[in-house]
Amino acid sequence: MKDKILIIEDEKKMREVLQLYLEKKNYEVLLAEDGVKGLEMAKKNDVSCIVTDLKMPKMNGIDVLKHIKDFNNDIPVIIITAFGTIDTAIQSIKIGAYDYITKPFDVKELNKLIDNAVKMYNLIVDRIGDKDEVLRRNFAGIVGKSREIREIFDLIDRVAGTPANVLVLGESGTGKELIGRALHFSNEKQKGPFIMINCAALPDELLESELFGYEKAAFTGATQSKPGLFELADNGTLFLDEIAEMTPRLQAKLLRAIQEKEIRRVGATQTKKIVVRYIATTNRDIEKEIEKGNFRQDLFFRLNVVTIKLPPLRDRKEDIPLLVSYFIRIYNKLIGKEIKRINPNAMAYLLNYDYPGNVRELENMIERAIVLSQTDEINTEDLSISFSRNNDIEESPEWIFRKLQVPVKNGFQMLTELYDNCEKEMIEKAIKINPGFSNTEIADYLGTNRRILELRLKKFNINKVDI
Ligand SMILES: Nc1ncnc2c1ncn2[C@@H]1O[C@H](COP(=O)(O)OP(=O)(O)OP(=O)(O)O)[C@@H](O)[C@H]1O
Ligand SMILES: [Mg+2]
Repeated sequence: MKDKILIIEDEKKMREVLQLYLEKKNYEVLLAEDGVKGLEMAKKNDVSCIVTDLKMPKMNGIDVLKHIKDFNNDIPVIIITAFGTIDTAIQSIKIGAYDYITKPFDVKELNKLIDNAVKMYNLIVDRIGDKDEVLRRNFAGIVGKSREIREIFDLIDRVAGTPANVLVLGESGTGKELIGRALHFSNEKQKGPFIMINCAALPDELLESELFGYEKAAFTGATQSKPGLFELADNGTLFLDEIAEMTPRLQAKLLRAIQEKEIRRVGATQTKKIVVRYIATTNRDIEKEIEKGNFRQDLFFRLNVVTIKLPPLRDRKEDIPLLVSYFIRIYNKLIGKEIKRINPNAMAYLLNYDYPGNVRELENMIERAIVLSQTDEINTEDLSISFSRNNDIEESPEWIFRKLQVPVKNGFQMLTELYDNCEKEMIEKAIKINPGFSNTEIADYLGTNRRILELRLKKFNINKVDI
């Protein structure tokens, strides 16, 4: 079944352009020329994404958004704003718009936003298919809409179909394993299994026999021969978790296995050919480990054909609302509850927190909140986290500005520079247009006095004769 996109837009031409384009992209498109009609259609149809203009007669986009959020918090709403209406864009994001796009825009850009929004919506409301939960999560459970996550989606798309080895970097709980699974399961050419091993969990010898396997009587206790994980992962993926913890001795063996594409079981004389894709992870600064001599550079090059660096959750806070919806659905099902929503205050807390444990920490919080909640919504009390008391909730947190790409940090410094540049340019123009004018005359021309003009000439290092 095609996904339905509802376009609420008062300009007929714009409606038609969007309809044409999106239908070609295999969406079913519904059109409404004002907010009132749009709302009716949104309620009657099972739409996967709503795109609404901001400025419309009858009901503006912000009100449309508010009403939609009232009856369904999860449908993604994309707002079309006019250039220069950043305030309203901020407001719409705060109310819970999925994203916004500024007019005039490239339809392709809007289409990309819609694609991502629809994908997320289907993931969150569980319309991926009737595969069981664990399997579904293994396939495509990467939730996010931030620029950072979208870049990672693109990268996964480009890399998944290739045999390239991938190094996944990121702090604990950022989703490294999830990315590894996504890479494996979205590659149809890989018929073998996804096999995972944590290099930090086993002592050197055990890790070696796990990876390479052994022949009968290779060592005391080896009563039968056993294949190693390399062999088991043949034609599939070997996920080497926490690779930086591997000893130099094993690093050398691993390098050989990757380079020669063959392995030898412990105690064996024969080697075996294997075709394996390697995905390795670490939350250490691997380049530093190389510098310190703890990690082999040649092995690093073999593993790091492509790097995927997962940013910490605190650097992509706009993903938090989506993740929260997603985890509420999942844990409702697992725990057997029917939490409908999260109260805005509780959401504000979640947006304000810094998550040293990243997505895993957020996931645990939601799980606990669902267990604790005694109503059909999650309240601040259910978030049993120790927010420090001075962690006041900001009116307009910095991440919103960051998302909007408005320079607020050092904003005044930028303003001063801008102002200085204008001033300098005006003075130089005035001098150029009026050759031979005295300072008093130029000051007069600019509508200021000689003293001020001379201070500026000095400040900007302007020499009248040079102009
Ligand atoms: N973008 C995401 N969307 C949905 N769930 C996510 C996302 N990122 C992480 N998670 C969930 O958060 C938890 C932690 O993710 P994962 O185990 O992949 O992290 P990790 O980086 O491997 O952590 P560690 O370094 O501690 O091993 C998992 O339950 C995972 O499903
Ligand atoms: Mg992990």
